[in-house]
Amino acid sequence: MFNTGRKLALGVTGLVAITIATRWSSAIFGQESAINPTPSGGFKPTTPRTSLMHWHDRAFDELLEGISRKDGESAEAAWLLAELANVNSFHSEKPNYRNWADQLRDGAIEIADTIRKKRDFDRAKALCNKLKDTCKRCHDAYKF
Ligand code: HEC
Repeated sequence: MFNTGRKLALGVTGLVAITIATRWSSAIFGQESAINPTPSGGFKPTTPRTSLMHWHDRAFDELLEGISRKDGESAEAAWLLAELANVNSFHSEKPNYRNWADQLRDGAIEIADTIRKKRDFDRAKALCNKLKDTCKRCHDAYKF
């Protein structure tokens, strides 16, 4: 019969082995570097879409305001918007909906990079205008 200490030691060793194996395989298959890995557990958003949209609006305003002040920290608002869009794509199964949400995500990522890496605020502003079209396209199609 195993005593508790021994069972615990075996359990911990097992967990460590699983963790190492998982890390190792994702390093080989390159999953760790993916920006938007497909969630394996079936991701479900918890936030109502109207609230998600409220924060799309706030993040976008903050981004525009930061860009007008040429503030490098505005990249954070772009990252937030990218993640909100990422979550939004799980609010519908419709391909065009998901497409626009993904476009918004990718556009916001590009803006974050333009601010952080290039510090090109004029280009960031131009990209924001393009992003606004993406908001509009989805709103037009979904009657908002
Ligand atoms: C992929 C689709 C999609 C994209 C992209 C999108 N929205 Fe929306 N948005 C919606 C839908 C659908 C609604 C209607 C909300 C509802 O009733 O579920 C909405 C509603 C809103 C609302 C009103 C929320 C309320 O209180 O009723 C605001 C504000 C908003 N969006 C802002 C934005 C901004 C800003 C962007 C771009 C930065 C954006 N949205 C991009 C789908 C989208």
